[in-house]
Amino acid sequence: MYELLLKAGTVVNQGGQARMDVGINEGRVTALGDLAQERADDVIDCTGLHVLPGVIDTQVHFREPGAEHKEDLETGSRAAVMGGVTAVFEMPNTWPATVTGDALSDKVKRAHHRMFCDFAFYVGGTKENLAELPELERLPAAAGVKVFMGSSTGDLLVDDEAVLKNLLGKLGRRAAFHSEDEERLRERLDVRRLDDPSSHPEWRDVRAAMESTERLVRLAYETGAQVHILHVSTAEEMAFLANHKAVASVEVTPQHLTLAGPEIYHEIGTRAQMNPPIRDVRHREELWRGLQSGVVDVLGSDHAPHTLEEKSASYPATPSGMPGVQTLVPVMLDHVNAGRLSIERFVDLTAHGPQRLFGISRKGRLAVGYDADITVVDLNREMLIEDAWMESRSNWTPYHGKKVRGWPIGTIIRGRRVMWDGEIMNSAGGEAVTFQFCQNQGSK
Ligand code: DOR
Repeated sequence: MYELLLKAGTVVNQGGQARMDVGINEGRVTALGDLAQERADDVIDCTGLHVLPGVIDTQVHFREPGAEHKEDLETGSRAAVMGGVTAVFEMPNTWPATVTGDALSDKVKRAHHRMFCDFAFYVGGTKENLAELPELERLPAAAGVKVFMGSSTGDLLVDDEAVLKNLLGKLGRRAAFHSEDEERLRERLDVRRLDDPSSHPEWRDVRAAMESTERLVRLAYETGAQVHILHVSTAEEMAFLANHKAVASVEVTPQHLTLAGPEIYHEIGTRAQMNPPIRDVRHREELWRGLQSGVVDVLGSDHAPHTLEEKSASYPATPSGMPGVQTLVPVMLDHVNAGRLSIERFVDLTAHGPQRLFGISRKGRLAVGYDADITVVDLNREMLIEDAWMESRSNWTPYHGKKVRGWPIGTIIRGRRVMWDGEIMNSAGGEAVTFQFCQNQGSK
């Protein structure tokens, strides 16, 4: 007897796929296999569908507290579950920034009963909170430390090498980095051309990214730290990082794999403006090569919503960032259908990869004893991505008008059906993600 039974779907893990039923009790997977004779309170027929471990998006900005006109924890998490995402790691560049234990517990408090998906929050690493970071990074619901080496939205920044080295030496967990060299960005402000966002990648150029990443990797070796490099955007970094897997893990975003300059800036203007920038086809091809050869560990959306009004100012007065948590799954499934990655590799990048890098408890695979976090997808469904589908408060997507093949049909979180076929079906029951090293988290 099961509380929930998913019948006759194709169950995919990072190592393979098979037609199986999934039995769920008390929020966990309790059986996998042929359960045709079993009874259940609720049965979902998954014939023709793929049943994936819940997609974990390890880079989103949900803007609360402080910029709720762009997004908040409720709207951002609605976007997540509508797009098939079961858990998110949220970034610290809010107002106030998440740089203290109080700011972290404030976010956790706000998240309970308002977030539809599970969550963890990064703590911003700064010169000022350096001494407390070893404690802060281990707090319940902390995803680890995030450091901005180049300035972007908000005022978090560590651009001093001595401070960075000191910080890396203190950390026990893998920390995440926005890697662009602040000094070079500041020197080259004049490269930006008024009203021309295609000059964004010329300003924030390959050298700005590469110099920062080389410095970070060198400091990781010197201090024994493990570093996670967010949204890698250049061919040069990808080639370099292939030789440094001992200390560095790699994230790419769907937008850097899908969009390319300069065309995209002519097509959608400042909506394509983000940091690090969308670059040309040469870089996009090398990011794919890195993904296909195993250098890339995870996909993160870098969901960074700004309003269209903010985006309609004249470049460079426009903010950088684009929404993405809701479109990660359909955009990447379209790439699966185009033969650019296998469905197993997609699972590796969105579930197993996050689990492995961050030491997440009981998530990241479909196996007995794991949380019943499940993303159900229809690999054959053709849909148009449109602004009107967006749950994000920002209400737009850089993919408006794009036809894709492959669509999220269901989002199940700890056995609760949260989204099915475009409808949110359950209340906001998100809980904090737990990590393997944390004690006293109150869970089995
Ligand atoms: O484009 C970006 N926007 N890159 C970042 O690193 C920050 C983000 C934001 O918060 O808007």
